[in-house]
Order: sequence, then C-alpha cells, then structure tokens
Amino acid sequence: MTGTPKGERKVLRVLEGEAIGPPPAWMMRQAGRYLPEYRATRAEAGSFLDLCYSPDFAVEVTLQPIRRFGFDAAILFSDILVIPHALGQDVRFVEGEGPRLDPLDGRDNFSRLREAGDPAVMDHLAPVFETVKRLRSELPGETTLLGFCGAPWTVASYMIGGRGTPDLAPARALAEGDTALVDTLIDRLVTVQTDYLVRQLEAGADAVQIFESHAGTLPQAVPAAGGVVEPVGDVAESALPDAPAADALTRWSLQPIARMIAGVRARVPGAKIIVFARGSGLDGHARVVPETGADAVGVDWGVDLKALRGRVPASTVTQGNLHPDTLIEGGPALDAAVDAVLAATAGLPHIFNLGHGITPQTPVAHVERMLARLRGQS
Ligand code: CP3
Repeated sequence: MTGTPKGERKVLRVLEGEAIGPPPAWMMRQAGRYLPEYRATRAEAGSFLDLCYSPDFAVEVTLQPIRRFGFDAAILFSDILVIPHALGQDVRFVEGEGPRLDPLDGRDNFSRLREAGDPAVMDHLAPVFETVKRLRSELPGETTLLGFCGAPWTVASYMIGGRGTPDLAPARALAEGDTALVDTLIDRLVTVQTDYLVRQLEAGADAVQIFESHAGTLPQAVPAAGGVVEPVGDVAESALPDAPAADALTRWSLQPIARMIAGVRARVPGAKIIVFARGSGLDGHARVVPETGADAVGVDWGVDLKALRGRVPASTVTQGNLHPDTLIEGGPALDAAVDAVLAATAGLPHIFNLGHGITPQTPVAHVERMLARLRGQS
C-alpha cells in the first residue's frame, strides 16, 4: 500500500534508535514449515530453490506470516545459499537433511567459480530483486521489509564443507592448509554480497540482516581479570594457525562483515543493518555493533539479554532472543519468557524476536499466544 509514511514502520524506527513499548516483533524463519499454508505453497512450487527463484511463490510465502500474525517486519523469502549457487556451485536441498553443495575442497574447483564482477552473478539473482520490489508494493505500509544474506564465514563454511557440520571441520581444515584460498573466498563473498545487499535495498528493502550463524566456531579474545587476553570458543587454538587464535572472530567474521557494511553504506547512505552472530557468547555479542558498525545486534538464545543490556550502551539496538524451544513448549513458561525479554529491554531500543529460527514442530497457537502476551492482550 503506497501512501503510508515510512515513519510508521516500527522496526525501522527502532533501528534508528527509538525505544518503542511494546517492542515491534518478527521471527527468524517466520515463513516456514510450521505453517500449513507454507507447506501447501512449497508442495506447489516444486523444489526449495524453485520456491526461492519464483517471485510469485516467494512473495506469497513472505506474506503468509504477515497476514496470519501481523508481524511488524516481513523477511524476504530466500536462502543464504543462493549466493554460492549464483557463483556457479551446485546447491541442492535434500528433504529432511538440509543443504548439500559440491564441496569446495581446493584450488581446482575454486577456479571454476564465477568472478565477483561477472554480470551472470547478479543476473542469476534477478528473481530475488523482483520479489523484493513486489513485496514492497504488496506489504502493508507499516510493515518493515527486511532483506538478508549470510556472513562470509558462514557462507564459506557451507561452500567448503558442502553441508552444515557442527564444528565446521572442513572449513577449518582448509583454513589451516590454504589460508590464502580461504581469504580469497571470503573477499569474493564480501564483494558479491555487498552488491547483493545494495541491490535488495535499491529494490525496496527497508533494512537488511546479515546471518553469521556459525560465529560460535571462531575463538575470540576476551580480557581476563588481569587484563590478559585469553582465547575462548569451542575451536582448538591451533585450528586457524595464521589467524592468531585470539583474533579469529575478528579476522574471519567481524572484519569481513564490517567491510560489507561500509561498502553498502558507501552506496546506500544510512542503510540500516542488523548482524546476528550466533554462538559468539556475551563477549562476542557485545563486540558486534562497535566492531562492525551495525545498527543492531541480533541476540541468540544462549546469551542473557539482561546481562548484555548491562554491557552495551543504552543506545545500542538489540533484537531477540526468546528460546525457540520455549515457543514449542507454550503455556506459562512461554508467558514468563516473553515477560523476561520485556523486562530486560523496557525503555530501551529493542526488536522482539526469537534467539534462532522457529522450528517446524512449533504449534501455530503458541505463536499467537506469544504475540498476545507481548501486545498486552493476555
Ligand atoms: O527467515 C525467513 O523466514 C526467511 C527465509 C530464510 C530461510 N533461510 C528459508 C529456509 C532465511 C533468512 C534463511 C537463512 C539461512 N539459511 C541460514 C541462517 C539462519 C540460521 O538458521 O542460522 C542458514 C544457516 C541457512 C542454510 C539452510 N537453509 C539450512 C541449514 C537449511 C536446512 C534446515 C531446515 O530448516 O530445513 C535451509 C533450508 C531452508 N531455508 C528452509 C527454509 C524455510 C526449509 C526448506 C524447506 O521448506 O524444506
């Protein structure tokens, strides 16, 4: 609907620093298998990638959770793995198993990827930009439209490993064996995805989110009590030898993201950007905004939101972080979890969300209950 001023988009207002109570809400993976209407469209569309590349279907599934729940933001329906696909890598989604890519295990198959400046890359993604454009004209004027992409490290880890692995062993082994190759891959992803986000913003996205779902595999520096820097994280210190262990989060994640954000803002001044660095802990989350220049930090369910709010300036915009399992559980535990998020963020700029994507087994009624509680109707 045209004519509604952008200023009525609450998620965008919070990203500009305003505290709104109750906070505006959306959910990661809000268009997905927990919704019967999504499953119906998905069956009609054919493969998951067909769904991503068909503007008619992609617009429809993006709008489904907005129609049903009136979320304050819609997130473009697509996937972070359309980028490797656009670069020429084979990408498939295996029912019940997740994504499968032809692993990028060395220089031979790396050399077959498209260069960042190859026009075929953005041509491949044209249906995504068409989806964004149509969404902006079909969404209610007060709904913020979010675009997204994966962070370079997360996307690279799928490209190298060919699939999601809990500890990213293949990506770490390649980083150890051929650090320069991983640097080249990360650089290419920074360039391509900067373009990709700019094109989404130009097509009508109000803001974008960068998903660093695998930040937890990168050790980081934390000042210990005596001021000594000690590595933490769930990866052995030796995993990334050329990246000092204490700096792995910075080198492979926060710096590439910072370069993307600067690149996007150079072309779209004032672009609003959320960074979700899952698994990076309280310290990692506290570093996201100062070290990347993001407008907001997406908070995963493993972080104590109140503790994080105590660590960052009051002006920091946070988003999150209700546990997706609590949403499956429902009942009084769900009400209490909603109340805890509200208590931790009262009077502060915050966007209500989950601490990771909603899972397929979540009852729709629990989403309704969560929103009623949030909006003060129960
Ligand atoms: O949030 C949304 O509703 C927008 C769409 C969206 C999808 N994936 C759709 C999707 C977004 C923002 C993503 C991001 C994404 N994709 C991430 C980062 C966020 C996160 O979850 O950590 C990652 C790591 C991926 C890669 C990916 N795509 C995986 C690991 C899987 C398999 C897991 C699963 O849930 O099946 C996918 C498939 C996928 N992406 C589905 C959806 C709705 C399910 C596909 C189906 O319908 O069968």
